[in-house]
Amino acid sequence: MLLLHLSDVDEASWARAFAQALAPYPVVRRGDTFDPADIRYIFVWKPKPDAFDGLVNLKAVLSLGAGVDALLKHPKLPDAPIVRFVDEDLSQRMSDYVVAHVTMHHRQFSRFRDDQKARRWSQYYPPAAGETTVGIMGMGVLGQDAVKRLRPLGFDLRSWSRTPKTIEGVTGFSGEADFEAFLSGTDILVNLLPLTPETTGILNRDTFAKLRRDRLAGGPVIVNAARGGHQKEADIVAALQDGTLGAASLDVFETEPLPQHSPLWAEPNCYITPHIAAISNEESGVAYFSRVLKEHEAGSNLPNVVDRSRGY
Ligand code: NDP
Ligand code: OXD
Repeated sequence: MLLLHLSDVDEASWARAFAQALAPYPVVRRGDTFDPADIRYIFVWKPKPDAFDGLVNLKAVLSLGAGVDALLKHPKLPDAPIVRFVDEDLSQRMSDYVVAHVTMHHRQFSRFRDDQKARRWSQYYPPAAGETTVGIMGMGVLGQDAVKRLRPLGFDLRSWSRTPKTIEGVTGFSGEADFEAFLSGTDILVNLLPLTPETTGILNRDTFAKLRRDRLAGGPVIVNAARGGHQKEADIVAALQDGTLGAASLDVFETEPLPQHSPLWAEPNCYITPHIAAISNEESGVAYFSRVLKEHEAGSNLPNVVDRSRGY
C-alpha cells in the first residue's frame, strides 16, 4: 500500500493520479482508514512529526522534492531507503531559471533598466558570452543539466563539486582545496548544491569577496536556486550595497516565505522569486514514482537513493 503525506501541495490530486497509475495497487491518504502496518511506501513532502508513526513494514520513503535536507532532519525518520525525485522535466525547469538569470545578468539588465528609468543614453558593451565565466557549484543532476543548456550559448563554464568531474567544455574544480581557485575566475556564481552541514552558509561575504571583479560591470553576481540555508542574507545585503556584488538572483531564503521586514525586498539589484525555480510536476512525478514502486515490487533495486552519510 502507498500512503501520501504531502503538505503545501494538492495531495488529493496527486492521490487520484497515483491511484489511476498504480491500479489495482492500493493508494491511501492521511485520514483514510487503513492499518499503518500495511504501508510499504510513503510519498512525502514536508512531513508532519507523526508522519511515520506505526509504519513498521515500510520499504521506502519517496521524496517529492529533489532536495532532502529537511526530510533528513525529521526526528522520527525511519531507516528505510529514501528515493528522491530525479526527472528531466524538473531539470529543464531549473535550467530555464538558471539560463534566464545568467543571461539577464550577463547582458547587464539592471544597468540598462536603470538607464532607461533615468532616460540616460549610456553606451556600454557587455563582454561576449565566451568572455564571461559562469561558475556552477554542484555538478549533480541539476548542475549538469544547466551546463547542457549554457554551453551552446557560448559561456565559459567551470564547476565545483565534492569529487572531481570531467565534463566536456567545463573546467572542473573539486573539494575545499580548489574552492578559492574556482571562485577567482568566476563572474556569475550559480548555486545548485544540496544543503548539508558542509555547504550551509557557503554564500557568504568571504565567498563573494573571492569572485572575479574585473569582468562584469558593477561586479560579480550570484544566482541561488538551491536552498536558503546556503546563503547569509545579511552578507548579501551588505555586499550589494558596498559593490562586492553587482546583483543577486535568489529563489530560496533563510526563512520562507521571505519575511516582510527583510531588507532584500528593497535591494534594487536583488531579483527575488518565491521558491519557484523548479516545481515537481504532478504528471512526471506520478509517472516516475509509480515506475519506481512497480519495479521495486517486481524485484528491482530502488534508483536515486539518498546517501544519508553524505546528506544528499
Ligand atoms: P545532486 O545530488 O544530483 O548533486 C549535488 C552536487 O553537489 C554533486 O555534484 C555533489 O558533488 C555536489 N556537492 C555536494 N556536497 C558538496 C560539497 N561539500 N562540496 C562541493 N560539492 C558538493 O543534486 P541535484 O542536482 O539533483 O539538486 C541540487 C539541489 O537543488 C537539491 O539538493 C535541492 O536543494 C535544490 N533544488 C531546488 C529547487 C528549487 O525549486 N529551488 C528544485 C529542485 C532542487 P559530487 O558530484 O562529488 O557528489
Ligand atoms: C525540491 C524543491 O527540492 O522544490 O525539489 O525545492
